[in-house]
Amino acid sequence: MRILAVDQGTTSTRGIVFDRDGRSQTVFYREHRQSYPRSGWVEHDPDELLGNVRACFEAALASSGVMAAGIANQGESCLAWDAEDGAPVGPVIVWQDGRTADDLARLKAEGAEAMTLERAGLPLDSYFSASKLGWIARNNARAKELAALGRLRLGTTDAFFRDRLTGCFETDLTTASRTSLLNLEACQWDEELCALFGVPVDALPSITPTSGALGTAAFDGGITPLTASIVDQQAALYGHGCRRPGDVKITFGTGAFALTVTSTGKPASRHGLLPTIAWQEAGERPVYALDGGVYTVSAAVNWARSIGLFDDFDEIAVFDGPAAAERGLYFVPALAGLACPHWDRDARGSWMGLSLDTTKQDMVRAILEGIAFRTAEVVEAIDAVQPIAGPITIDGGMSANTYFAQFLSDTLAIPLRVSDEPELSALGVGMLAAEASGMIIDRPQKGAMVAPRPQPVAWRKGFLSARQAVQAFGAAFAAEATS
Ligand code: G3P
Repeated sequence: MRILAVDQGTTSTRGIVFDRDGRSQTVFYREHRQSYPRSGWVEHDPDELLGNVRACFEAALASSGVMAAGIANQGESCLAWDAEDGAPVGPVIVWQDGRTADDLARLKAEGAEAMTLERAGLPLDSYFSASKLGWIARNNARAKELAALGRLRLGTTDAFFRDRLTGCFETDLTTASRTSLLNLEACQWDEELCALFGVPVDALPSITPTSGALGTAAFDGGITPLTASIVDQQAALYGHGCRRPGDVKITFGTGAFALTVTSTGKPASRHGLLPTIAWQEAGERPVYALDGGVYTVSAAVNWARSIGLFDDFDEIAVFDGPAAAERGLYFVPALAGLACPHWDRDARGSWMGLSLDTTKQDMVRAILEGIAFRTAEVVEAIDAVQPIAGPITIDGGMSANTYFAQFLSDTLAIPLRVSDEPELSALGVGMLAAEASGMIIDRPQKGAMVAPRPQPVAWRKGFLSARQAVQAFGAAFAAEATS
């Protein structure tokens, strides 16, 4: 018996079939189009994403013995569609999209953040779905017509897939916790939060546990029960084997996403961290987590390559001579603002400490070190709220960069395990889907250990000064631009 895990992420969709011994077979992989219609806007085509998710199911049905499926989704990305025929009324507005920044600045000035922090656990930031869904409800003419007819559906991508694949207009609790519309304690939509963002609560999906009987997806080739649906980062937390409070995983993809399981009930919103739901198995109480992200990781490295700072990724895995930080050269990777724990959308990326002998290699090296320093800010915030239990397990493209992994371990002063599992979101959602179907996927955690070496405290202080300087500049520039 085998399980299909669909990982519908920000850049691609992957369909992977797991057997009970954890052996995997990729049955589908496709990247999708990224649209940037205006500065700061990021969109996907809903039909293209749905087509790719369907293709995963069809490919799995063609291979034998698949008894159930799970879908991991890209979190906060959301859209609107027609309840009658399921047709989208606009693009998916992706989690990276900042079109609602001004609306949120207004709400912040009115003092609304105290309420979002208290109820949803989340600051006012365009990262979360609420302001995007409100934007659609206010600005999309077709959405307004459908609302008047009582046919508007608003939701994250998982709700769209589930509506179209199983006929059930539902989202799971982890994804609901990324909207800023969920009351994190009651685990239900919060009518006052919905009113704050202008989201009609009757257009939102019902909320289900992460795993259990979530409907049946029907195709020409047969039917597949859906038994898990979860945000991809939470799926990766599960796939990494993090179950105990203080177990931390960090995934280095487009951004870096650090999550830890917490010890009791709903964690408080402290130190700029995001309390969120880790998972909820059917009939069980929800498990909570703390989340902290760095927006630009491979996005920063790919940008460096696109402007000609290096050609081949092998060039940036080993460097000679002292660290950039030792020479007073720093990069602050705020290319799309600073997320956790600062939540500062006005900050912008910068090198500090350039001199006439700075080379391209030094500049890239400072980028890698800057990502490590930023990640350390997030991990320190986590440790202050939920003491970290032991080695941190990491995955994703940058985790394979030996210079970066060692520098990160040195900066954190914590051992790291670099997971050798390339598909942790798929593995996590696959494990949850399997368990809900009475099967265990037995896949022991493996990966090389990286031990920390002593690092001069002055390096962290140098980064702190550089980060504060970019924030001061961003704030001054924003004030000038609006005066
Ligand atoms: O919060 C966004 C995150 O879940 C996206 O992850 O892997 O799709 O880039 P990924």
